[in-house]
Amino acid sequence: MNQAPLLVFGIFAALSTSWFGLVVWPQIQLGALKPVEIEETGQIYPSARSGLAQQGADVYRANNCAACHTQQVRPGTDIARGWGARRTVAQDYIFDSPVMLGSSRIGPDLANIGARQIDDNWHLVHLYKPRLVAEKSVMPSYRFLFTKGAIGAKPSPNALKLPPEEAQRFAGHEIVPKADALALVAYLRSLRSDAPLFEAPLPAKPKTKPATLSAPTTNSPAKK
Ligand code: HEC
Repeated sequence: MNQAPLLVFGIFAALSTSWFGLVVWPQIQLGALKPVEIEETGQIYPSARSGLAQQGADVYRANNCAACHTQQVRPGTDIARGWGARRTVAQDYIFDSPVMLGSSRIGPDLANIGARQIDDNWHLVHLYKPRLVAEKSVMPSYRFLFTKGAIGAKPSPNALKLPPEEAQRFAGHEIVPKADALALVAYLRSLRSDAPLFEAPLPAKPKTKPATLSAPTTNSPAKK
């Protein structure tokens, strides 16, 4: 018996079902995702990145930061580690192209770093020399994103504010971030996934927390 038509049909069926499962079905499920209004704050989430932050995403990609950092908060341990306020969901990545999920976690997850670390100077000093702000860090330094030079007649307004000992070592010199470093920090600051969503609400806060937080405030006037 000639088996050829059956074979061709089998190949066609295998290819078309996998195409449907891997391409069409995800598109039906997630393709129409749009920014939503957050009930609590009235803000639209997610909002598009600024041009500078978008450039920073390219710097992040070019330097392969995703080799050591994920951008995906999983429920449970990741939240307990302080990496995110809630788990990340597809809605968080609407404006990311490509999505830089990462798979290896040599360093902390960065999905919510924009909420965790809001000091631009911290980020810049960290990129320049991680150990200046994070003890025993194994993150490589990205000095090529900065220029080092003698302070001219007028110090550069962008120059890094270094910790005192390091500033002494560089006396008379300043370290100025290049455009790529500033863009990268704008991108890191734009990484926030802490808006409460219908499919990923913020976990309920433990009931004991407000009591511990308010205790010192109410006690302090009495102490004086
Ligand atoms: C070889 C692995 C490695 C690479 C590559 C790497 N990092 Fe890191 N990163 C780490 C480690 C380890 C830490 C934790 C120690 C520290 O804070 O320095 C860290 C910490 C961080 C933090 C602070 C996170 C927090 O929760 O405080 C930021 C921000 C960061 N990295 C950004 C970047 C960026 C941007 C790049 C790419 C330019 C990058 N990293 C590349 C390993 C890496």
